[in-house]
Amino acid sequence: MSVTLRASLREAARLLGRAGIENAGHEARLLAVTALAQPIESMIAHGDRLLSDSECRRVQLLVERRAGREPLSRIRGEREFWGLPFRLAPETLDPRPDSETLVAAVLREVVDAKAPLRLLDLGTGSGCLLLALLSELPCAIGIGIDRSPGATAAAADNAARLGLASRCHFAVGDWSEALAGTFDWIVCNPPYIPESAIAGLAPEVALFDPLPALDGGGDGLDAYRLILPRLGRLLGAEGRLALEIGDGQAMAVTALAVESGLALDDSLCDLGGRRRCLLFSPAVATMLKHQVKKSLGLGPHPV
Ligand SMILES: C[S@@+](CC[C@H](N)C(=O)[O-])C[C@H]1O[C@@H](n2cnc3c(N)ncnc32)[C@H](O)[C@@H]1O
Repeated sequence: MSVTLRASLREAARLLGRAGIENAGHEARLLAVTALAQPIESMIAHGDRLLSDSECRRVQLLVERRAGREPLSRIRGEREFWGLPFRLAPETLDPRPDSETLVAAVLREVVDAKAPLRLLDLGTGSGCLLLALLSELPCAIGIGIDRSPGATAAAADNAARLGLASRCHFAVGDWSEALAGTFDWIVCNPPYIPESAIAGLAPEVALFDPLPALDGGGDGLDAYRLILPRLGRLLGAEGRLALEIGDGQAMAVTALAVESGLALDDSLCDLGGRRRCLLFSPAVATMLKHQVKKSLGLGPHPV
């Protein structure tokens, strides 16, 4: 039986609403855009158009996936982050808008955007943090590390699509284990969800984001315990670290960083007002800066 595009969208919205999807009408339209590869304006203008059987099946298939709570971004295969399109793979976390806080924090601190900075992104996933930074820092180069080969392949693919491949390299590794040399900025968004909280997350996250990208162990802090003690040697005297943290983890993560010889410079909130990004420097460098400022009569550093 032939159905019009409008009727198909109505049915899709009904099914999505029944599956608990908010904004079901809007999502139904976006799924149809993907299934039919047509711009939304043309769909709106031609709502009375009869869909072919194959078109109907394509829309139905995507609606069924979304009703099973697969995120729209994974169905479409792409997510926008920092205004850039990122391809997703089953092994990559779906980048969150909250993580743009970290990118903004680093860029705010960089005094000369044309400086030849060396960046390191630990747990790079889709490469979103490193590639967003490289897109804003034209002379910077970077390395992205992830334990998942599928994630590093996706990140390299994203770098090529964004025209940034000549300034970065992605490699499989266990955090900073195999790295030598020093970096001007290390950025890291590690897994930080307490293991027991994962099953209670929205199905879009619990069922579709890869477990190694979420699971932070018993208290959510396992990755910070592993990463922080090894970073001192990779941060040059002027090196800085930007860490994403989970809501309520600021004090515990700062304590772990201080034990590892780092000093907190600043903490930043996401759009919801939660502290989600911590900036650190090597404690020795911070102490020296204080002393120089004091001897010049410039007063304490505003931490
Ligand atoms: C929270 S996700 C962050 C992904 C991406 N940076 C972002 O912000 O969207 C954490 C990432 O750390 C990676 N990871 C987990 N354990 C790791 C390890 N031991 N060494 C390197 N990467 C690891 C995961 O595969 C995942 O891609």
